[in-house]
Amino acid sequence: MARRLIRLGVNIDHVATIRNARGGAHPDPVRAAELAIEAGANGITAHLREDRRHISDDDIERLTAYLRGRERPLNLEMAVTQEMLAIAEAHRPHAACLVPEKREERTTEGGLDVARQHSIVAPAVQRLRQAGCRVSLFIEPSPVQVAVADAIGAQVVELHTGAYCDAVRAGEAEVAAEHLKRLTEAAHAAAARGLEVHAGHGIDYATVEAVAALPEVVELNIGHFLIGEAIFVGLKGAIERMRRLMDRARAPSSYGSPE
Ligand code: PXP
Repeated sequence: MARRLIRLGVNIDHVATIRNARGGAHPDPVRAAELAIEAGANGITAHLREDRRHISDDDIERLTAYLRGRERPLNLEMAVTQEMLAIAEAHRPHAACLVPEKREERTTEGGLDVARQHSIVAPAVQRLRQAGCRVSLFIEPSPVQVAVADAIGAQVVELHTGAYCDAVRAGEAEVAAEHLKRLTEAAHAAAARGLEVHAGHGIDYATVEAVAALPEVVELNIGHFLIGEAIFVGLKGAIERMRRLMDRARAPSSYGSPE
């Protein structure tokens, strides 16, 4: 299989988490977006949650203006609600990624169950596509979820890597191998249907290479680890190292022949 470039989307939600701990304007997620792009991020991801616990409406407005001015993509993560759909239609981000959302969760704990919720998700996909957004569905790496995502008109699936990353961190090699197998098969099935394949959640330096080595995956979205690591080495250093690991995993010697 020909080698394809892999993009890095940096999720800056937790810059806003730190800002919101004290109120005020510092640290500013837009400044983080600027630094992330300088350090090699291809785009910026932000999740406007219903409870606005990190990114705010004003952040989305400023990020949209900033990134549009620099012709860089904003990937807006959002729940499937009328409020979020209206916001996405007003801002028309380059990409919209539909995610499940529960108020009591700390982070997006699982994928969107599109197989069960297709009657709610399908019209949302259509509305976002009509607004000019590239629509992605954040799903578990399962053949059923991939098939339904395709059937309801999504252009992209983002495969949830959380279970794989958790297993690696827990030192559970067999469980991790099983999750990686699921990711591998789901990526393959999605690409075979003509869907663009992204992956994300819980990725750190120890897990990025295995995910980036999946040839069908063309974008990774990484947030919490990079923002945490930035405390020690700076955002630029953290992103540059992640980028190097992604590129190493993608090197021709890792698989296949270069294009
Ligand atoms: N992709 C999606 C769809 C997400 O919801 C998140 C978390 O907001 C991420 C990627 C990034 O996950 P993490 O912050 O664990 O790197």
